[in-house]
Amino acid sequence: MPYLDTFDRPIDYLRVSVTDRCNLRCVYCMPEAGVPFIPHPHILRYEELTRVVQVAVAMGLAHVRLTGGEPLVRKGIVDLVQGLAAIPGLDDLSMTTNGMLLESYAAPLAKAGLHRVNVSLDTLRQERFQAITRLGSLDRVLRGRQAAVDAGLTPVKVNTVVVRGMNDDEIVDLARLTFLPGWHLRFIEVMPLGEGAHWARDGVAPATEIRARVEEALGALTPVRKGTGAGPARVYQLPGAEGTLGFISPVTEHFCHTCNRLRLTSDGKLLPCLMSNRAIDLRTPLRNGASDDDLQALFEQAIRAKPRGHHLAEQRPPECVLPMSSIGG
Ligand code: GTP
Ligand code: 5AD
Ligand code: SF4
Repeated sequence: MPYLDTFDRPIDYLRVSVTDRCNLRCVYCMPEAGVPFIPHPHILRYEELTRVVQVAVAMGLAHVRLTGGEPLVRKGIVDLVQGLAAIPGLDDLSMTTNGMLLESYAAPLAKAGLHRVNVSLDTLRQERFQAITRLGSLDRVLRGRQAAVDAGLTPVKVNTVVVRGMNDDEIVDLARLTFLPGWHLRFIEVMPLGEGAHWARDGVAPATEIRARVEEALGALTPVRKGTGAGPARVYQLPGAEGTLGFISPVTEHFCHTCNRLRLTSDGKLLPCLMSNRAIDLRTPLRNGASDDDLQALFEQAIRAKPRGHHLAEQRPPECVLPMSSIGG
């Protein structure tokens, strides 16, 4: 049984950022010049990470998602996946990736025991893709997504951050992809975190508006049972569609009351909430010989420290001090 937090929310999901580095520079996430990266000696080694995840899983955090930066830029990631997949009690091991390296990694990741991936994709237009990601290639990401489907890392969900004036004219084209086999898509409201603050100022397209535009063009959406996914998406299907269409609306209809997660940064900070500046250091105790019980006590402290929620809807900025790229969303 997972732990309950102060607001009776079961905490059963751990997002693990394995690196703050990334091979892209998405405009709403990182400045063009990048951000100062965490120095190598501070980054948890794979043995350290695996130990922390073992403790977490034993406490009922049975869903684990690897994030970045971009998780696939960290060397030896397949070995990490293999080690994590062997942890008894781990129900769901997934990854969120920008897809740039997925074509060659999909099969080895699946073989190592990864269950599924979510892939970020904000546009279907090559030039625009380059403008948004600064360094990306649309074709590579599309091939990566397909390789993930072929490798059985399913359901492969596509994450589309919608920004007004940036890609909201493609909402219907993107939603139409769910008529194809193997395509699941989620529209995400851009959050005012770090670089996102600038884009969110006038750029949030509320999920209700996106939904209305999709329904007007493609027909009524029917809610579907959640299925695979422990996250905040509200999931629907278009008439005749094979895949699902989800909406993640952190700004206009926050889902904090159902929040089930903790986050671990690549330098070993446990974050009770994406939007708070509380961070519990696991690295120092880990390197000073902490026992599993000591680590468990730190997890319990993080669970107790989870706030009720954030205040983005009232235009109150989040308190978090880390860049989005180092938290992994
Ligand atoms: P599933 O297990 O497949 O449902 O994963 P997920 O949707 O939780 O993970 P993913 O990494 O694909 O995240 C999709 C979007 O949701 C990203 O933009 C994340 O930043 C955002 N997101 C995930 N968890 C939270 C959260 O706790 N709070 C907020 N505000 N946003 C979140
Ligand atoms: N708001 C919403 N989603 C964001 N992501 C990155 N920055 C933001 C933001 N400011 C998304 C990425 C990826 C996931 C990990 O988080 O596109 O899909
Ligand atoms: Fe990299 Fe993801 Fe940030 Fe884009 S959103 S720069 S892919 S970490």
